[in-house]
Amino acid sequence: MQKAQIGVYGLGTMGSALALNFADHGYRVAVTNLETSWLEPFIKEAGDLAVQLVPSETLADFVASIAPPRVILFMIPSGPPMDAMIERVQPLLETGDTIIDAGNANFTDTRRRTEALDRTGLHFVGMGVSGGEDGARHGPSMMVGGSDYSWQQLAPMVQAIAAKYMGDPCVAHVGPDGAGHFVKTVHNGIEYADMQMIAEIYGLLRDGSGWGAAQIGALFSDWNDGPLASFLIEITGKALGVTDPETGAPLADVILDKAGQKGTGRWTVVEALKLGQSASAIEAAVGARGWSSEKDTRGVAADLLAASAPGADIPDTDVLAKALLAGRILAHAQGFRVMQAASDEFDWSLDLDRIAEIWRAGCIIRSALLDDIAESFRAGLPQDQLILAPVIREALADNIGGLRAVVSAAVLAGIAVPSLSAALAWYDSMRTARGTANLIQAQRDIFGEHGFERIDKPGNFHGDWS
Ligand code: 6PG
Repeated sequence: MQKAQIGVYGLGTMGSALALNFADHGYRVAVTNLETSWLEPFIKEAGDLAVQLVPSETLADFVASIAPPRVILFMIPSGPPMDAMIERVQPLLETGDTIIDAGNANFTDTRRRTEALDRTGLHFVGMGVSGGEDGARHGPSMMVGGSDYSWQQLAPMVQAIAAKYMGDPCVAHVGPDGAGHFVKTVHNGIEYADMQMIAEIYGLLRDGSGWGAAQIGALFSDWNDGPLASFLIEITGKALGVTDPETGAPLADVILDKAGQKGTGRWTVVEALKLGQSASAIEAAVGARGWSSEKDTRGVAADLLAASAPGADIPDTDVLAKALLAGRILAHAQGFRVMQAASDEFDWSLDLDRIAEIWRAGCIIRSALLDDIAESFRAGLPQDQLILAPVIREALADNIGGLRAVVSAAVLAGIAVPSLSAALAWYDSMRTARGTANLIQAQRDIFGEHGFERIDKPGNFHGDWS
């Protein structure tokens, strides 16, 4: 039987969609799954594409059905299952074969696995895949790590299945070892902030202006035709227009206000802090998910904690749109700073403009803004800071007043906007040439004799604080 050009292990939602996507682009795809009972229905549902699929019941048959040097994509739960899988598959592989972990893995695990496999002649690729089921099936955005050798092996196949932005495939070899998973992690951190900021604007309209879900949904759909155009705004507009068949109420109104998380947003924040960065808008979004799960406490606290909020009119919708755009720009700028810091720390030479380009289609945070961001990177950034790039600076100048008005109104109305307000605080901190850390230096010198730098001469000094 003719050998397959790629293997896909793991036929859950994402794995099966990727396998069909490869098949759809003319590739012969070996497939298998831990539960082999999934194979038959999968092949049946593949319809005309079934002829491109080579199912196997055992791992050995699966590996043997792929043409060497093999490319095998694993879409399985990250963490220990991936280590266990490597242990099982490694003895079946040969020098030059590449294992791809296409799940949302922690990049530190990817670095460790890459190093371990390197010694065996096998290649390990951590690949971030974004776009959900539909993206995986019809065109995801993919952030590929690992060796140049593996990239040569993979490139034609992943370029074929990737989303296209004006013909440009949304996939790139972003860097070695864990770079692909790191970039995907930051993508998700930005995703958290974007989702949270959208939810904050929704909250202001719902709780501050008394708007209904459908009305807010229509507004988001309108915004999707302007500078806020993005997948997340689009699905928000749609989501708020859906009715619950059981109650006839808007479906969003009957959904519990508790959101879970799998970890990538949190990893972004943890890594940012380790790298001496602050991704405060993203951190606020991760924190907000945590607070959302404290539903019982919030129920009690609602009656016990005074708002002392004098109240304020929620600004009109044009101002809300500006606030959302400014917040989105700042969250992206923080995410890109974290990637720059990681690139320096791990010697990855991340190509940030290419990363912005491959996020323009296919992924969850795809938006009109990313084209401006890509253009800014291409033109070169003053001080290496996205917020200082001319196009971004102008966009901020046009929209920051809206963010300020919205955050002020929210504060006075007693409505929490953690991510928007964190973004604004960061913006104001960055535009403050003379900050207040002089006082922090003085305090540290008083209690710990840490010394301080002076404004007028170099060196480390101590004050006479007695
Ligand atoms: C994507 C998504 C995808 C997934 C996240 C959600 O880019 O396609 O980010 O990877 O939706 O893992 O993460 P949480 O469950 O943590 O919200």
